[in-house]
Amino acid sequence: MMGCGLSFKSEKPKKKQKEVTSNTCAILSDRQNLLVRESWSIIQDEILTIGVYIYYSFFQSEYDLREYFSSIFQINKEKTKMHMNQDKLERHAMLLMETLGFAVSKLDEIEDLRDFLNDLGGKHYWRKVKPYMIRRLWPIIDDSFRQVLCDVYTTEVREAWQTFIEFIFDSMKEGIDAMSLAQTLSTECQSIDDQNNDKPTLNHLEENSDAELTISDETVDTKLLNK
Ligand code: HEM
Repeated sequence: MMGCGLSFKSEKPKKKQKEVTSNTCAILSDRQNLLVRESWSIIQDEILTIGVYIYYSFFQSEYDLREYFSSIFQINKEKTKMHMNQDKLERHAMLLMETLGFAVSKLDEIEDLRDFLNDLGGKHYWRKVKPYMIRRLWPIIDDSFRQVLCDVYTTEVREAWQTFIEFIFDSMKEGIDAMSLAQTLSTECQSIDDQNNDKPTLNHLEENSDAELTISDETVDTKLLNK
């Protein structure tokens, strides 16, 4: 069980803050931005514990997703036993948490952050991870933050995190979708190229009524002309 954050440094702002920041791309209000940053500073103190807790819980409740983590879970030949590599689990837990920390540090550069997360989504595409799988992380992140932040995790703080995490998931989804589309297009182009390469050039030209048959000097075998 994780301990609760000791204190929460933020105080309610004395006067009401404006909800929309000067950054037109902002996804959080100024107040939400502050709440996420300040609660993150508490989470950061227990970053490894929380990361490991998130992945332990994730692999307990989302058993089927273990197969995507071949570096963490090894199955014996008989397929009767599954071994979990603790070091690899910790490494992945740190990757997740460091990415969240990086995202918090980029809250004022949302377009850069979106690009970074699009790329990260693209990497997950190659691991066959689907956007709906990523969404399954939220209830576990939510639960772990509640445990560590305790009464600091007010409805307002939770809502700010939920909005932020949704943005992270959506941006990763964009990256997965873009990579998937790029792959489909390149496969289609490849198959059109393959079909075209199979056809003799003349047949191919005949199909296109507008095509003019022009032969450049280099393509004419001059030995034939001299015969
Ligand atoms: C907020 C959500 C997530 C974040 C921020 C995140 C972050 C990361 C990062 C930073 C990497 C390393 C990428 C690289 O440089 O190659 C990674 C790898 C990976 N992620 Fe995620 N991830 C998330 C969710 C998920 C989910 C839900 C799954 C599974 C269904 C998943 C599966 C994987 C796998 C299989 C790898 C490769 C692991 C390895 O090489 O051992 N991720 N993730």
